[in-house]
Amino acid sequence: MAYKYFADNREYIEALRKTGDLVDVEQEVDWDLELGAIVRRVCEKKGPSPYFHKIKDYPGFQALGAPIATWRRLAIVLGLEPDVSVGDIVEEWRKRTSGPTHKPEIIDGKGAPCKEVILMGDEADLFELPAPMVHDGDGGRYVGTWHFVVAEDKETGFVNWGMYRQMIHDEKTMVGPVLPFSDMGKIFYNKYEPKNKPMPFATVIGPDPLSALASLAPTPLPEAEFAGQLMGEPTRLVKCETCDLYVPANAEIIIEGEVIPNVRLDEAPFGEYTGYRTSPRDKRTVYRVKCITMRKDPIMPVSNMGVPVDEGQLLRSFTLAMDMEQLLRSQGHPVTGVYMWPESTHHLIVIGVKPVYSNIAQQVGSLLLGSKAAAWFHIIVVVDDQTDIYSLDDVIHAICTKWHPVRGTILMKEGVGTPLYPFANPEERISQRCPKLILDCTFPLDWPKALLPIKVDFKTVYPKEIQEKVLANWKDYGFAD
Ligand SMILES: Cc1cc2nc3c(=O)[nH]c(=O)nc-3n(C[C@H](O)[C@H](O)[C@H](O)COP(=O)(O)O)c2cc1C
Repeated sequence: MAYKYFADNREYIEALRKTGDLVDVEQEVDWDLELGAIVRRVCEKKGPSPYFHKIKDYPGFQALGAPIATWRRLAIVLGLEPDVSVGDIVEEWRKRTSGPTHKPEIIDGKGAPCKEVILMGDEADLFELPAPMVHDGDGGRYVGTWHFVVAEDKETGFVNWGMYRQMIHDEKTMVGPVLPFSDMGKIFYNKYEPKNKPMPFATVIGPDPLSALASLAPTPLPEAEFAGQLMGEPTRLVKCETCDLYVPANAEIIIEGEVIPNVRLDEAPFGEYTGYRTSPRDKRTVYRVKCITMRKDPIMPVSNMGVPVDEGQLLRSFTLAMDMEQLLRSQGHPVTGVYMWPESTHHLIVIGVKPVYSNIAQQVGSLLLGSKAAAWFHIIVVVDDQTDIYSLDDVIHAICTKWHPVRGTILMKEGVGTPLYPFANPEERISQRCPKLILDCTFPLDWPKALLPIKVDFKTVYPKEIQEKVLANWKDYGFAD
């Protein structure tokens, strides 16, 4: 059964307009910093998505800023009312991700929206696209800020969709960081580069919102199948013009070409998801462009990374937490839930457990530190089932009252890190090694029952009948809420 979803960016834009989660910006804006600055301010104010109708120098193009940067917009993407709770969004995600996966359906490319315009050879010029200069100080114009790159492992047939940023180097060349532990990194650096073979790629700009979500999630599934699972039916793909990769028919813009082996070009700096500019200009992976296809009136999505909360942090936090919950549950651990505040820029993860045996925090925490996604977080807080994992007040209270600075601290001196951690020493950033911390916020099970501290809150220290009476009479006492 298909779930409620948007087949393309445009249906989604309409839905945002209806709920008041979009602002039509009719005034012309400059792709050089002005557009980026508007998107950044919107993220910092948790405001509605700006839909830019006129971009300086680029008649015919439009842009959508901060596509899914709020919980409201994520709720809309998942077919829910915009003001539902995070818990409701989690439930919807659990429902969809426990349904069947669907292999994509290949359809005839003739007449597909993403092929209304086909630019080959000399005509395929990256500067014809309204790539923004996102932040002052960036190393160049970024054409890929909300997009994904398709690549195939020919030996296994595994097709990856991954969101990896792409900067314009010249008319026909893009460059960007592809981290070695990413799926595309594993394919290109292990299967193509050692043989000095170029790797075909397709960059999909402006996919439908669920496909974008699938591409940035740390799922082990091929992302096209994962997107199908989220939709409840297959995604519809068309063949590329210059290679046998397949891309969503309803996307806005497709860039096709080859990733060039054993060549690196300068990329960055760039304002990053941590809210800092951490990685300096350096030699990074090179994409050579052969062809650009697009709609007649393309809409360029623009994400502006920086201090939380933008869509990178919101959706990466959400999907990382959901993926880690699935991993823990798949091993039968007594988990009540897993959550990451987007404000933690997905560096801090909270695991709720029923502490039914000793040292459970060490066990669940180390499993996450050994997972594929571990590079992206370094603080794990394990709380018991008296703590509401979605409540910052509750988790801070648990850390400050249940975590013992000696007994409750499990320190891993070196784990897999990224070059982007602002707190890491320069050597740690270069070697991509990083310390990790588990905070055990559960009381030891072997403490005598009589000596267990008793939590003093409305739910725990009053008999049920008193609680019910107080709740029933609340308004009569004179309280509004
Ligand atoms: C906006 C955005 C930009 C990103 N840029 C990069 C990048 O440049 N390089 C990278 O390795 N990961 C980047 N990521 C993280 C990957 O998208 C993420 O790890 C994703 O799960 C890729 O999955 P895979 O490599 O496991 O397939 C970015 C994420 C977002 C949301």
